[in-house]
Amino acid sequence: MKPPLKVPVNLSSGHYDIWIQPGLRERAGAVVSGLTHSKKLGIVTDDQVAPRHLEPVRKSLAAAGIETVVAIVPAGEQHKNIETLGQIYDALLGAKIERSTPVIALGGGVIGDMTGFVAATLLRGVPFIQMPTTLLAMVDASVGGKTGVNHPTGKNLIGAFHQPIAVLIDPEVLRTLPERELRGGLAECIKHEIIRDAEGFDRLEKEIGKALALDVDYLADLVAHNVAIKARVVEADPFEEGERAHLNFGHTFGHAIESVSRYEYSHGESVALGMIAATRAANDLKMLDNSSRDRIEKLIGQAGLPIGGMKLDPQPVFSAMYFDKKVKAGKLRFVLPDRIGHVVIRDDLPERTIFEALRSLVA
Ligand SMILES: NC(=O)c1ccc[n+]([C@@H]2O[C@H](COP(=O)([O-])OP(=O)(O)OC[C@H]3O[C@@H](n4cnc5c(N)ncnc54)[C@H](O)[C@@H]3O)[C@@H](O)[C@H]2O)c1
Ligand SMILES: [Zn+2]
Repeated sequence: MKPPLKVPVNLSSGHYDIWIQPGLRERAGAVVSGLTHSKKLGIVTDDQVAPRHLEPVRKSLAAAGIETVVAIVPAGEQHKNIETLGQIYDALLGAKIERSTPVIALGGGVIGDMTGFVAATLLRGVPFIQMPTTLLAMVDASVGGKTGVNHPTGKNLIGAFHQPIAVLIDPEVLRTLPERELRGGLAECIKHEIIRDAEGFDRLEKEIGKALALDVDYLADLVAHNVAIKARVVEADPFEEGERAHLNFGHTFGHAIESVSRYEYSHGESVALGMIAATRAANDLKMLDNSSRDRIEKLIGQAGLPIGGMKLDPQPVFSAMYFDKKVKAGKLRFVLPDRIGHVVIRDDLPERTIFEALRSLVA
């Protein structure tokens, strides 16, 4: 067995490691014992993940002498709300957890965001450990400390920053993940390469087939590389005041597509189309050469993500963008690539360029 890959994250609020290793869920007890003296631990998970992945984690914690209190909530974004938080608080407080009792999030980004918020607020803050089980949660949601839930008036409107004491990633759990979810996670991986790493982009072009074939050793490397990219961006800008905006590449267009489609396009699919639109806009403005544009489009297509054929009228998508929370002083801000591995922020795009980029997605 290869030793775990470890990606350190250093923030002014503290240091923690992201551990990545195939089979790590069965060694969770040993890792967690090195992080806490608590003999009790809360686990929050959902009803899709629990039957597939809870038992090995509990067993390994039990073998390390750690008793677990489990809260299982219904799966899905529609349950990412304060009602579900209430269920989690009830379960954990009912089991008399203490200030020093860590809480593990075992699940996708929905479970990670909710559990992080619970950990930030329960008894004014308990230690938080992430065990992300979707590719998106591994490479994106589990890094950065953003936690929270949705409100009927909008997504992620209630929340807090709360950093974990560790993130434990076992790529083997991706074997049970629906393929559409895997492709959605790849959209964020492609995003990371485009904004930060030309060599990583080259490698992904050659090896994306291994990710789709669920080669767990390859996935371990891919996840480690991606969390490192996100961690470096977050370290440089922990409270989203500057360069962290680069992570929104594809998301200004993408959020509008997601919402106008009423979530028919998943987040990953919307971001894929959004990255295509932003890439075409950059090319249209002569910021990005044709060959880089073509490579970006090809890689997104190879991931099985949409690169055209959008079944939405561009006009409402265009209007929806102006309601995006990232609008600053009435101007839309776009993250555009000027070469593979590098992006710039622009708030002076002609409306015609934006509209044409959207219209091109319909073809
Ligand atoms: N905090 C952040 O920085 C951040 C960043 C990006 C996204 N997010 C949030 O993440 C959420 C999306 O996360 P997601 O895409 O992981 O969705 P998700 O948590 O809803 O998981 C998707 C589905 O897959 C199931 N699932 C999870 N792991 C599985 C596995 N290994 N096998 C089988 N099924 C499995 C889940 O039960 C769920 O039904 C959104 O709420 C978004 O706001 C947060
Ligand atoms: Zn995203």
